[in-house]
Amino acid sequence: MAKVLIVGSGAREHAIAVAFQRDTAVEEVFVSPGNDGIAQFFSCFKYEAKDKNEPFVEIVNFVKEKKIDYVFVGNEQALADGIADYLEAHGIDVIGPSQKAAQIESSKVFSKNLMKKYGVPTADYAVCEDYVAALRHIAGQSFPLVLKADGLAAGKGVIIAQDKQEAIAALDLIFLDKKFGNAGNQVIIESFLSGEEASIFAFSDGEHFVSTVFSQDHKALYDNDEGPNTGGMGAFAPVDKFFMLKDKVDKVIFEPIFQGLKNEGMPFKGVLYAGLMIDGEDINVVEFNCRLGDPEAEVILPIMTNSLAELCQAIIEKSIDQCELKFSGQYAVGVISASKGYPEAFERGKPIFIHKGIETLTGQIYFAGVKQQGENLFTNGGRVLCATALGSSLQEAIDKAYSMTECVQFSNQYYRKDIGQKGLKV
Ligand code: AMP
Ligand code: GLY
Repeated sequence: MAKVLIVGSGAREHAIAVAFQRDTAVEEVFVSPGNDGIAQFFSCFKYEAKDKNEPFVEIVNFVKEKKIDYVFVGNEQALADGIADYLEAHGIDVIGPSQKAAQIESSKVFSKNLMKKYGVPTADYAVCEDYVAALRHIAGQSFPLVLKADGLAAGKGVIIAQDKQEAIAALDLIFLDKKFGNAGNQVIIESFLSGEEASIFAFSDGEHFVSTVFSQDHKALYDNDEGPNTGGMGAFAPVDKFFMLKDKVDKVIFEPIFQGLKNEGMPFKGVLYAGLMIDGEDINVVEFNCRLGDPEAEVILPIMTNSLAELCQAIIEKSIDQCELKFSGQYAVGVISASKGYPEAFERGKPIFIHKGIETLTGQIYFAGVKQQGENLFTNGGRVLCATALGSSLQEAIDKAYSMTECVQFSNQYYRKDIGQKGLKV
């Protein structure tokens, strides 16, 4: 029986915690730092790093004190900051890549160069290191054109310019206004890909991998994929229309990228997220992330019937090739309730009412931006929670997820009304 610590504080980490909790191979689940919603169900370990140079020393002490078997890292920032290297140097097993391998997400330049070197299909691109070089580069390009800050920018560092003027404005923002800070020291300028986006995940032990079903996030703020980009407004899985592409994705994307990381001396151990643009048979990688997706985790994990603990053990023992990922055959839909104003400025501190009727529904609320005061939970973030439900058809899962969402109320609540609809279209 394993004791597990999950690192992170969002709905994704709540979903990971629930997946471990329902696993008979797991004795106890801890989350650090978690949030006040997660803390209603799990022991959360919050701490202030005392030494900036050693930000994970408190985690090491906690893991040793509680005799935790391994740490599952949910969020990219901790991985980019080297949590896996630090914990492993202290003898602790970690599900999550090293700082070097996490560059696949933390540096778009690293990621694009790796894709190019190992023949993984992705949009043509150029790396520009300064304003003048970037201006010169866009002069000869056709539009739309995609400009990306190199570093982590919470999903906001990508600008799609429809014409030259918009591209120049984007460069002003990145290089002159430093809108993305140091994340914008280098810029990727790449060609625009058309098609439909989907994501797929691979559990890798550094030598072998197994991949999940496809999922679709809804990144735009408004229905019909309009409006500004967000961290994700909802997701569903599986995506029937892409089912036939799974073997191809394993072969042309996961195999060469994992091999490439291994060749470069940074084998990837953990969960790799491939964000894809699919246009008929044409598949291109838009981005890799070094962890499970949010909100994709909230729909993939509930339909995965494997023991998550067994998968983690197999990653630790480098025997993931002995595992086969299994899914229940159900559909899962997750609808994010956000604070109105997100992804820009929004108000916090609104009381969250969850109607008693929710108890008669089947599904799960995963908490993200919430805070407890007295007996009540209050909003405390842009994305507040995710209501996930399962169904034997996608339509049933959509209906149930919205019934759950309607049982949750807070002032300024905003959610998209069309999560999952694109999966109904063939
Ligand atoms: P990223 O942070 O790289 O995932 O980009 C954020 C979003 O921008 C993606 O989910 C896509 O919707 C869009 N995007 C990024 N790169 C491209 C591209 N080359 N062509 C079209 N859309 C893109
Ligand atoms: N669903 C987008 C992400 O996890 O980055």
